[in-house]
Amino acid sequence: MADIKALIAQMTLEEKAGLCSGADFWHTKAVERLEIPSVMVSDGPHGLRKQAEGGDHLGINDSIVSVCFPAGCATAASFDRALVREMGGTIGNECQAEKVSVVLGPAVNIKRSPLCGRNFEYLSEDPYLAGEMAASYISGVQEKHVGTSIKHFALNNQEHERMSGSSEADERTIREIYLPAFETAVKKSQPKTIMNSYNRINGVFAAENHRLLTEILRDEWGFEGYVVSDWGATNDRVKGMEAGEDLEMPGGNFANDALIVRAVREGRLPESTLDEAVRRILTVVYDYAENVSPDAVFDRERDHAKAVDIAAQCMVLLKNENGVLPLSAHAAGCGNPDGPILFVGEFAEKPRFQGGGSSHINCYQITDALREARKRTDVQYAKGFPADGDVSREEDFAEAEALAKGASRVVVFAGLPDSFESEGYDRSSMKLPACQDALIERLAAVNPNLIVVLHNGSPVEMPWADRVSAILEAYLGGEGSGEAVVRILFGEENPSGKLAETFPLRLEDTPCYLNFPGKGGKVFYREGVFVGYRYYDSRRMEVLFPFGHGLSYTSFRIGAPVLSASDIRDTDTVRVTVEVTNTGTVFGREVVQLYVRDLTGTEIRPDKELKGFAKIALAPGETGTVSMELDKRSFAFYSEEIGDWYAPTGEYEILVGNSSRNIAGTAKLHVTSTNAPRFAVHANTMLGELMQHPETAEILKTTLLSHMALLAPQEKDENGRDQAVSEDMGMAMMRYMPIRALRSFGSLTDENVEEIVAALNRALGN
Ligand code: BGC
Repeated sequence: MADIKALIAQMTLEEKAGLCSGADFWHTKAVERLEIPSVMVSDGPHGLRKQAEGGDHLGINDSIVSVCFPAGCATAASFDRALVREMGGTIGNECQAEKVSVVLGPAVNIKRSPLCGRNFEYLSEDPYLAGEMAASYISGVQEKHVGTSIKHFALNNQEHERMSGSSEADERTIREIYLPAFETAVKKSQPKTIMNSYNRINGVFAAENHRLLTEILRDEWGFEGYVVSDWGATNDRVKGMEAGEDLEMPGGNFANDALIVRAVREGRLPESTLDEAVRRILTVVYDYAENVSPDAVFDRERDHAKAVDIAAQCMVLLKNENGVLPLSAHAAGCGNPDGPILFVGEFAEKPRFQGGGSSHINCYQITDALREARKRTDVQYAKGFPADGDVSREEDFAEAEALAKGASRVVVFAGLPDSFESEGYDRSSMKLPACQDALIERLAAVNPNLIVVLHNGSPVEMPWADRVSAILEAYLGGEGSGEAVVRILFGEENPSGKLAETFPLRLEDTPCYLNFPGKGGKVFYREGVFVGYRYYDSRRMEVLFPFGHGLSYTSFRIGAPVLSASDIRDTDTVRVTVEVTNTGTVFGREVVQLYVRDLTGTEIRPDKELKGFAKIALAPGETGTVSMELDKRSFAFYSEEIGDWYAPTGEYEILVGNSSRNIAGTAKLHVTSTNAPRFAVHANTMLGELMQHPETAEILKTTLLSHMALLAPQEKDENGRDQAVSEDMGMAMMRYMPIRALRSFGSLTDENVEEIVAALNRALGN
């Protein structure tokens, strides 16, 4: 390994400042005098977008021919760590072959609203799932000695005012929902770089956020790599460097390098801070440069085949009634007494399989469902509606309708056109184009065997859901999407994807509906920790499809959770094992999901939260066991009072199932906290709080209550009539009475209050 310390010692101030911004759109700077190489970084995340010339971060100019894998919306739905790791490894190898040092991904921002234009790139509404998937991807890429850049750090959950708006959220919400995906990735996989986002957080630019980029990311989590600005996210370069932003991208504007030099010269920026940024950048540069694999080849044919396989394991079968799927190739086409199979919708020929913007891949080979299906059997086709807009033409509708009347099965290929969903702006509604909803309704009225395949990066409303027999969510499945869909439709692959996000019935149901996307440069995260199923499940709301949902062509029995212990301290871990049996007739994969419910009642918390999952492959009749480990974080909430994670002492329920709404078995566990906040009594402490602690409850009973004669309710008054306030009611009311109020309603003096408060604190050991 190069002696980085020695190199820094030889660099001039100008060279050091220069190294902290790129040479151009995609390269770090070289220092030829010292043989420091320049290396390339490229987008990401679901394929390699390596641009030769004409660099841009909006997907406008072309990049090399590459393989487009399923986007984040799809890969998260695989709930499959090994699969995502394999995909990462494949992309890492491509980077080696193409001499790219860092791939700019994964993108892990939480799906706060289905309307975020970039949700297709993001992973989940759930931080645990997003963290696990991100860590797997990073490990896969980095095993090939290529770095990753987990992005966009942080609270960048919308495109509206994305480069300047302020995300306003409280500490608990930030810690529980918006940071853990980054935290898990850092702790488990140590990404080589992290990309700070464009936006502000509670008024401070992410790029200048010392708390985020240094105190939390490095001091608390132990991040060792460099922080790179999102392209153009740097506001005040010197402030950014002080906060922990090491590399400014894109490069080419050398004015900021000069500002750094001046700040050091004038004593406003310690040179050691600059040296540290240079050290971090060079460590990652050399880690790649010294591990270049000269023999790596980008075998596009092989990687395309992988893209198809991966896509087939990500798609989610949302509904399948009356055995309408899988389609049978033999029954269709010639000689089929029930009529032919009909495909409708231009997405059958032109699938939408990736989103617009910086992740846009120049594809090697695109497979479409129509051509793939026709390799297997005769399929009729009616365009019905276009793939790229919202156009209803009666001739097209009528043609599709006439063919549907005679078809055995009708498969509608629906989805969001490119312009509906992209980086750079948010969606304006959760609806499909009106032409698609209208045609689906008409076809459902003439053929009961209607199947809808969806191509979209984020939930859509489905007003027709009850009138169709099957729905397959293909998401944006990459260039192999068409073939993967056909394999699933024809039963060559058994679907095993699960929703990584809730599909609400309508946009107005979403937790942040009243606060998205904000106004006047601020967006308030008022729903707090109640994002996605945390909200819908706590409110017991009806949803279209719940988080974690996804069907299979076989059936599974999920057993009750078996715990390695029933009573633990929060410093221990507990192992949960669950038996799963394939009770159907075909091979399949099931995802066992583990949720935790806090029964202690200490804090206002979601009904349940995902804290474990495992995917298992089983032959018909086979039984297997999955195992998941829980630790303190599985039970804890973020206590602003302690400034740390806190799992209150008490009971927790462990729920296992195959969606947040389909729980197969539960078990209880007692956890004892080792960092409960200190309970200190003061004159305003309520009597109810004293009742909750054994040490103070005793004093309350023996001493305090005797001073409350005035208040003590009696069942009857002196005339034998019922009192307005019964004893129970009196006790309930007293819960909220501060100790000091016993001066007014009891017989305490000021001095007594002081003495009693002191005695209570002594009893608590304070
Ligand atoms: C995007 C990043 C991307 C970068 C470089 C930015 O606009 O937000 O995700 O990696 O451009 O293309």
